[in-house]
Amino acid sequence: MTTLNRISGLHHCAYRCRNAEETRSFYEDLLNLPLAHVIQADSVPSTGATDPYVHLFFEYADGSYIAFFDLGDETSCIPDPETPSWVNHFAMQVKTVTEVEEWKTRLEAAGIEVVGMTDHEFVKSIYFFDPNGIRLEITCEVIGESERTVHRTEAHAALKAWTDNRPPPQNEFYKFKNESIDA
Ligand SMILES: [Fe+2]
Repeated sequence: MTTLNRISGLHHCAYRCRNAEETRSFYEDLLNLPLAHVIQADSVPSTGATDPYVHLFFEYADGSYIAFFDLGDETSCIPDPETPSWVNHFAMQVKTVTEVEEWKTRLEAAGIEVVGMTDHEFVKSIYFFDPNGIRLEITCEVIGESERTVHRTEAHAALKAWTDNRPPPQNEFYKFKNESIDA
């Protein structure tokens, strides 16, 4: 049996953006995330399709990225009309609650509408939208390892309680086995 290490973390998450320079200004000038890599191409490597684009990567302090594609058509990713606007989002981490407060001040001074600070008991967060309509969160974790351990211990029972009480799925679905992955 092959044993794999646990996947180590986020490399990048990619979204479509309306305009590369507009997005660069927001992420680099406002959020202080350096533009670290740009790929410009006329076809898509994975599919071979002719579709000119630029691919932008903004780098976090831990070396991971948030990335964007500008297809040159002034079109951003369209939010799913069936999904409430607060659901799909991307959360970025800072080290202190004071920094969350400072980001709220900075964003509001730049004319960005900010929701929060919201206390989720394990994190405190603010929420706002980027120029593409992507909901962003800046958050600080406010619990320690002992509380994280309690959450891990309780997680499967909490999920089972939800699953047992939600409407059953319409169709059978396949459940994967995790025997080949190290914890
Ligand atoms: Fe979140």
